[in-house]
Amino acid sequence: MSTVQENLNYKQYVVDSNLRYFKPHATAVEATFAQEISASLGRSKKSISPKFFYDKRGSELFEKICLLPEYYPTRTEVSILERMRDDLPGYIGDDTRLVELGSGASVKTRLLLDVFSKVQDSTEYIPIDISEILAESSELLLRDYLTLSITGIIDSYEGGLEFLKQYDSRQNLIIFLGSSFGNFSPVYGHLFLQKMRSAMKPGDLFLIGLDLIKERDVLESAYDDSQGVTAQFNLNVLSRINAELGADFDLGNFEHHSAYDAANQRMEMHVRSLADQSVVIPKSGLRLELQKGEMIHTEYSHKYALPQIAGLLRDAGLEIVRTWTDEKELFSLTLARRPVRT
Ligand code: AVJ
Repeated sequence: MSTVQENLNYKQYVVDSNLRYFKPHATAVEATFAQEISASLGRSKKSISPKFFYDKRGSELFEKICLLPEYYPTRTEVSILERMRDDLPGYIGDDTRLVELGSGASVKTRLLLDVFSKVQDSTEYIPIDISEILAESSELLLRDYLTLSITGIIDSYEGGLEFLKQYDSRQNLIIFLGSSFGNFSPVYGHLFLQKMRSAMKPGDLFLIGLDLIKERDVLESAYDDSQGVTAQFNLNVLSRINAELGADFDLGNFEHHSAYDAANQRMEMHVRSLADQSVVIPKSGLRLELQKGEMIHTEYSHKYALPQIAGLLRDAGLEIVRTWTDEKELFSLTLARRPVRT
């Protein structure tokens, strides 16, 4: 084991010759969750980071969201990836490795791996995901892609990018799909793209999927579906805090709330308190006093115009290679490159 990976506090788990994982030591993960919750719920404007949605149940609920009739992003992005199939081989070299941020259940990954397997004899894939669902989806991929080798990193995006930076000197195509970037505030989004650029080698490629601005009705029904799956997904984060931090949120005392903020170009999700109540979160050392109607912010989901996407990438020192959209311009995929000389 290299010292780099030990220094970064990762533990390596080798499953077989084609599959291994790196994971931060468990105690470190739990301390971060407890501390972040302590800070974000301890403020007068309370919030919970959307990255905490994705425990096992949360990841399953998100997979269900992706199949809902109202939730257009997933199926639209898949249709764009299908359109891109003939264009992509031109950008993938013999030695390019596929890296994916927020790989989740890896459905879209297969479309990319199909392209890689046309170009390469064997492919290396590095999924980076905070959820342990990564382990299951990796095993499923290996059943179908016999010349694939997978090195999974079970960590935050930031941790994963830092890991990647020190990993080796191979060229990467880093993909960040599903408009997950839309969760970030504009300020953090910029910082994130700078981290991205610094994790990339000159010539490395970055493919980002982003949701586009559209009519309010379409957006609001995508985040408040008729079957109530999004509501369950949102409220599940409270169950997670109960389970992992010993809290006593009564889920019957909260409801899902979401709305489009056109001025800020984002969907916002909250959980709303249905009563004056107090909640104890022992592992975060918190006792919350919530008023009836008070909202806890849980997610931003930003929407973009195509020229803004170009601007975001350019501001981070990346050059646009190409953009693809669907016929109705609901969603976009943009390929960018870290310039060879800068
Ligand atoms: C995975 C962050 C892209 O913002 O659309 C889906 C999460 N939240 N429904 C999104 C989500 C509510 C999703 N992202």
